[in-house]
Amino acid sequence: MSFESKEYDDWIKAGEISAKALAYGKSLIKPGAKIREILDAVDNFIIEQGAIPAFPSQISVNSFAAHYCSDNFDETIITEKDVVKLDVGACYNGALGDNAITINLSGEHSDLLDASRQALNNVINIIKPGITLSEIGKVIEKTIEEKGFSPIRNLSGHSLSLYKLHSGLSVPNYDTGSKITLEKGMIVAIEPFATNGFGLVVEKGVPNVFMQFRKRNVRHPFASMVLKEIKKYKGLPFARRWLEKKFRKELVNQALDILVREDIIVAFPPLVEKNQGLVSQFEHTILVWDKAIVTTKLDDLN
Ligand code: CO
Repeated sequence: MSFESKEYDDWIKAGEISAKALAYGKSLIKPGAKIREILDAVDNFIIEQGAIPAFPSQISVNSFAAHYCSDNFDETIITEKDVVKLDVGACYNGALGDNAITINLSGEHSDLLDASRQALNNVINIIKPGITLSEIGKVIEKTIEEKGFSPIRNLSGHSLSLYKLHSGLSVPNYDTGSKITLEKGMIVAIEPFATNGFGLVVEKGVPNVFMQFRKRNVRHPFASMVLKEIKKYKGLPFARRWLEKKFRKELVNQALDILVREDIIVAFPPLVEKNQGLVSQFEHTILVWDKAIVTTKLDDLN
């Protein structure tokens, strides 16, 4: 991919829309706000910008690191004590952006936020072709531990390619010793997670995020109808709430169960910190060039 190619422009555009969506979502996060309403607004914002969500906009609160949904998701309200992670991304002609921030409504956990924010900035400063995953992981681990926190070891950044949010390479948040290198032209999302807990996440609760991973049909007539809708998401992750706009809730639940059982889609349950530690996360999408080009940065796109 060269600077002159159309694909390059698409990655820049996807990053720009992702960053704008993140800023917009951030402006809506206030005590008393309903999580469901913010997520719908951000998903719609991305569509209004001429893109589609690269994955369902997500808000994970306190010890939840990702894929959060409460038992009463539609009614869950943000409180002034919450540490709120907002993770959003746009897909533009297949090119993707993925970015996240943490908002500290009480102001009590700024050290925890600094740990993951600083880790991300330190990685951006050292990224260049030939850097090993080990070097990246080491910088994240060191930055977070120096501030007295732990990186979450079983969450990682990832490479991206057209219509593929996770295109094969995991970028670790600790030193794995991996000698695999980043090369010029690769696109990676770097997302350090810091916690005052154990440093691992476990799955908990009912999944709200899914992804089709097998192109197979299903016999069950209603599951087949829902699958037809799912195919429109082009292999990108999707939300239960999106399907509920088209079909009745009970039928969506039934169809998703069948499709998971038949190995056609995969479910991503909420991920919570093992010891209920608080979790912070910052994320940018980066084009590896002679140095890092952060595509999800609003002020300086070059
Ligand atoms: Co990501």
